[in-house]
Amino acid sequence: MNYYQQHHEDYLEGLKTFLRIPSISTLSEHKPDIQKAAEFVRDELKKAGLDQAQLIEGQGNPLVYAEWLGAPGKPTLLFYGHYDVQPPDPLDEWKSPPFEPAIRNDNIYARGSADDKGQTYILIKAVDGLLKQHGKLPINVKFLVEGEEEVGGEHIESYVASKPARLKADAAVICDTEMFAPELPTICVGLRGIVYGELWVQGADHDLHSGIYGGAAPNPIQAIAEILCALKDAQGHIRIPGFYDRVQKPSDKERAAWARLPLNEKEYTEKEMGAKELVGEPDIPLLERTWARPTLEVHGIRGGFTGEGAKTVIPARAVAKISMRLVPDMNPKEIIRLYKSYVKKITPPGIRTAIRILSSAPASVVSTDSRWIAAGAEALEQVFKKKTVYMRSGGSIPVVGTFQKFLKAPSVMMGFGLPDDNIHAPNEKFHLPNFYRGIKTVGRFLELLGK
Ligand code: BES
Ligand code: MN
Ligand code: MN
Repeated sequence: MNYYQQHHEDYLEGLKTFLRIPSISTLSEHKPDIQKAAEFVRDELKKAGLDQAQLIEGQGNPLVYAEWLGAPGKPTLLFYGHYDVQPPDPLDEWKSPPFEPAIRNDNIYARGSADDKGQTYILIKAVDGLLKQHGKLPINVKFLVEGEEEVGGEHIESYVASKPARLKADAAVICDTEMFAPELPTICVGLRGIVYGELWVQGADHDLHSGIYGGAAPNPIQAIAEILCALKDAQGHIRIPGFYDRVQKPSDKERAAWARLPLNEKEYTEKEMGAKELVGEPDIPLLERTWARPTLEVHGIRGGFTGEGAKTVIPARAVAKISMRLVPDMNPKEIIRLYKSYVKKITPPGIRTAIRILSSAPASVVSTDSRWIAAGAEALEQVFKKKTVYMRSGGSIPVVGTFQKFLKAPSVMMGFGLPDDNIHAPNEKFHLPNFYRGIKTVGRFLELLGK
């Protein structure tokens, strides 16, 4: 048994402790848990033997930094992860409580298990193992772990922008994506960007009896419905003028590679999604729709009466949460401007609207053609005993663009999640064999780069 195998139990115990902390960044009542999770990460980095392990406190949730720079002349990697998680709701759909990790069939179930505590812990334990075995690392590493990725990662951007010398690295390493399929080692080479905002809608200045005023009063929920239909048609085409102007199509080579990936559309629809059929732009293949086309989705609508029974009311206000996913080369600022001016134009009579943007980030693509990606692919192949595939993903990790912009560092996105891990959903899980193989792979990756 090798060193990593001997420590599986310790790794699992440590991960469980991490998962018990409900570090939900979007809910302010969890601030103390955010602090606890940051301190947990700092202490783990310290225990691993890294130097300078510290919290960086300023505005927003603490960043955690640590470094090991004892290999002069060797490359430097910047390891990134996030210790914050999404809210667990709807709570009653969890088979075991979201912050009481439970193991069933080789999977660990808990909010954050795959996204991203389990994967952040992979990075920490890979380095921990090498330092414990050899007293040194084959290359230099820096860690930067954040606690507000799930709310847009605003403060990490200003920190990276202000500390390029401290964070200088040849490449970043991120374990926060998924494998294309079980047992298929995968590197993610593209992410969509995002604009996330709230649409506030006001009709009359107070709620009205719908019998007395119905037929004459503006209804803000109806207005949201009309605005949504004007924003996106039934074919999934977004109707904001100028929205698609800068969209870059994937290359023929990428398209051909995507067509070769093993994908069963029926299983994807019925098993993975639990849906009856797929929707979206009719002439565009599935993977291109989710990886390389922009979208507009509504995530929630609040307003009016939603309690038990009937109440006949025309509400005064309502609000919708809406995001747009962006692809290269769309510019978030420009998209926000086009969106705001179009919503103003399509706002129905009698209604006032206001848009509050919560976060935005551009899309990112990385070249497959670098020694960092090559070493990542090789490490994955050695551990998984299969050829590494490259994919893009429709999700967003804002810091990838930040590292590229301010550090000129490309990201190696080696994800160990699986398509059915239920990230952001009830019963999130992480496949434990991938957790252990992830630790081994990252260790291998460092060794390959140290040669
Ligand atoms: N790790 C995910 C993003 C992801 C998931 C990338 C799967 C690739 C495959 C990340 O934590 C996430 O959920 N990001 C948010 C960002 C947003 C809140 C700014 C997202 O994509 O919705
Ligand atoms: Mn994540
Ligand atoms: Mn997430």
